[in-house]
Amino acid sequence: KPVLFSGMQPSADSLHLGNYVGALTNWIAMQEEYDAIYCVVNDHAITSQFSPEQLHERTLATAAQYIAAGIDPEKSTLYVQSDVLEHAQLGWILGTLTGFGEAGRMTQFKDKSQRYGADKTTVGLFTYPVLMAADILLFQAKKVPVGIDQKQHIELTRNLAERFNSRFGETFQVPEGFIPQATAKIYDLQEPTAKMSKSAATDAGLISVLDDPKVTKKRIMRAVTDADGEIRFDRDAKPGVSNLLAIYASLSGREIDAVVEEFAGSGYGDLKKALAEVVEGTFGPIRERTNELLADRGELERLLQQGADRARERAQQTLDLVYERIGFPVRK
Ligand code: TYM
Repeated sequence: KPVLFSGMQPSADSLHLGNYVGALTNWIAMQEEYDAIYCVVNDHAITSQFSPEQLHERTLATAAQYIAAGIDPEKSTLYVQSDVLEHAQLGWILGTLTGFGEAGRMTQFKDKSQRYGADKTTVGLFTYPVLMAADILLFQAKKVPVGIDQKQHIELTRNLAERFNSRFGETFQVPEGFIPQATAKIYDLQEPTAKMSKSAATDAGLISVLDDPKVTKKRIMRAVTDADGEIRFDRDAKPGVSNLLAIYASLSGREIDAVVEEFAGSGYGDLKKALAEVVEGTFGPIRERTNELLADRGELERLLQQGADRARERAQQTLDLVYERIGFPVRK
């Protein structure tokens, strides 16, 4: 089976609807056909402000949400990034192949460094995309299911793989992103031209997997729409309604056209009510299962230990090959 790799940062108490619809649903669907590796990328999460206690908790909660949503830790490899030191070592090596200007062109870095300010913009934040490339290349992944915001980082990963291969000989699989258009970017409910994100100015436009369903329903009912009152899909003219339609279609496993047809002639309130129901129908069981998993730490830790062991073994194989290629001694 071809290898698939993806990860999420444990940087919030809960995953949000963008993470779920944009990435996690594809992870779940793809784990049958792929040799799938899913990582909780805590090395990445320390490039933003964090508290150690909270980070520890969020790391476990993120892993629990993967499993609760449907990642099978027997079928797929599920682990925590900091358990596999090879990420950092390959990241270092790839950093020596990355141009300073090349890294400086990453739009996510530019956005984040502007938001954080000069004193909180670290070298780690700058080299973050190189570590992400290492994550992917370490496992010789062919497919990387992500949202559109990660596309530029995947391009960098491809460039680094090709650069390494042409300089040192065929070593890395050159990966490609898997970014289905309809769900590549889920928008903020209050500002439907901006990405749904945990770092938005307010939480009013954010739907979180683990939130109280009453809060979620209220946020959906208050989602920004438009004045023309017609339910149709048009991202430019009707970003708010189109976002609701895309979310509804994804969560109910249908095409956007079919959803538009179903709601033809209905009001926005009807669409919102139906959406709130399908969101709770999806997130309710995930919430429950997540809480069960978090209540039995021993079992969760066992699963993560098993994942780490598997991931480490594979990562070591790639790193040995890289060492050989670049003239580092390989010692056992
Ligand atoms: P992160 O943790 O910000 O987000 C996790 C995943 O969710 C997707 N996503 C969205 N998709 C659609 N609409 C949205 N509003 C939305 N918000 C987030 C992201 O695209 C991502 O797929 N750099 C990555 C983590 C990472 C990674 C990797 C991913 C580190 N190493 C290797 C893949 C492979 C990140 O910050 O994702």
